[in-house]
Amino acid sequence: MIILGISSMFHDASVTVIEDGKILFAGHAERYSKNKNDRFLNKALIRDALKNRVPDYIVYHENSFLKKLRLIRAGNWQALKEPTQQQWVNDFYPEITHQIIGNEIGLVPTRQFLHHETHAAAGVLTSTFDECAVVVLDAIGEFDTASIWHWRNGKLKKKHSTKFPSSLGLFYSAATHYVGLKPNEDEYILMGMAAYGKPTFKRYMEEELFKQSKNPIDMTVNLQRGLTPNFITRVGTKDESGHYSVDYDIAASAQAVVEDKIFQYALKAQQLTGSKNLVFMGGVALNCVANRHLFKLYDNIHIMPNPGDAGSSLGAAALQYYKLTGNRVEWQGPYLGYNIQGKYPVKKALRSLERGEIFGIANGRAEFGPRALGNRSLLADPRGGDIKDRMNAIKKRQKFRPFAPVILEEHCDEYFEMPVKGLTSPYMQFVAKCKYPELFPAIIHADGTSRVQTVNKEQHPGLYELLTKFYKRTGCPMLVNTSLNIKGQPIVNDEKDAAAFAEYYGVKVHTHDGRR
Ligand SMILES: [Fe+2]
Repeated sequence: MIILGISSMFHDASVTVIEDGKILFAGHAERYSKNKNDRFLNKALIRDALKNRVPDYIVYHENSFLKKLRLIRAGNWQALKEPTQQQWVNDFYPEITHQIIGNEIGLVPTRQFLHHETHAAAGVLTSTFDECAVVVLDAIGEFDTASIWHWRNGKLKKKHSTKFPSSLGLFYSAATHYVGLKPNEDEYILMGMAAYGKPTFKRYMEEELFKQSKNPIDMTVNLQRGLTPNFITRVGTKDESGHYSVDYDIAASAQAVVEDKIFQYALKAQQLTGSKNLVFMGGVALNCVANRHLFKLYDNIHIMPNPGDAGSSLGAAALQYYKLTGNRVEWQGPYLGYNIQGKYPVKKALRSLERGEIFGIANGRAEFGPRALGNRSLLADPRGGDIKDRMNAIKKRQKFRPFAPVILEEHCDEYFEMPVKGLTSPYMQFVAKCKYPELFPAIIHADGTSRVQTVNKEQHPGLYELLTKFYKRTGCPMLVNTSLNIKGQPIVNDEKDAAAFAEYYGVKVHTHDGRR
């Protein structure tokens, strides 16, 4: 039984293919079309995902009727004319949506789930929890913008929801837009900027935008069109990144508000479920700075590596599989996309490290999610003062965007004060203070934290071997890790992209060791 999950038409379109509970493929449209955050599917992606298989079911990550209803209610009559996600796919790729039944051509059975339901399912069905609270926070689904669920006895029950226009995701996107960045794309840049400012507008934002209510996310305004132009005065001279000095305080304030609100909503979830386990999903769950506080409430936390809308193609497919069979999908990690075949280039990488080179690795299956976790990564020795500048010379990005460390799991506590001792972070979802910032300035952000990725042998044997050998040679169990992408473009997908990166920046990109 083959299930094709689809998430598209908003931002970050993606597909997932599940066959008898095994995730055969999960990947992003942008990696094939080269349009960053592409909202539309493309044929190259679908071909790579299905590889001539015919789906038995096609499932969608949201209910298009309800979504349209919300848009029309908000006065967007144009929405009536636009095709739904399902109509678009039927027209664009009839080869997969139609099948021959007897002598007739029929549509492959389809199903639409609710937007927050697929977010929740993507988290729960890739977790190991038998019981947990689920918090979903994003910009907007059909009407829900925040929801709390309880996963118990194999059932996912909604316990609470917050409706549009109150929305923590819309608030953070509005702040992103307000400082001149792209909403729905650059929220992680705002999070990085926050460390350079002071939260001087936190109270003002809370008082102006949020209600005094039992629900911490209840708002007084609709931020779909952004903050009013004069909400906070932005004047002065712009710096080399194109930002006024006040922008950093706006970022710090928005971040402080979001951290508080996430915490309060997670507390509400605990009160409603009594659980000590948490699944956290939705685009807001990518805020790795805020996530660390949640360990004050929960013993165990699972955030799927792709908690935003792109991850919901997997959520929809996994939910359909669960509804049909009562079983969860087999979750083996985020390496689910296009495959660059060959042995993980441990030898070549070690040679590059010996020479003090910054180098790329493009090998194996592409990561499903926004972060490069070793298969499409730019790597280097993290020791010493000049590595950050050398990496920035290649990536040419704003100073407030930190590089992350990838470290052998067993050494993590020696180097980082994780939110909880012994915590692992295989998908780079929590920040932690480095104990030796002077030794590794390249991986330390302005607030003294690092976005840590831990790795063990099971999760990634090749990367684990590389780190282990590097550690044996140097005593250093980590590398700097950042995504392998040309500035402004999506992360490298295939061999051609890897070669283009190597040529563009004059940096080696290893795709495999020895023969394929
Ligand atoms: Fe969402």
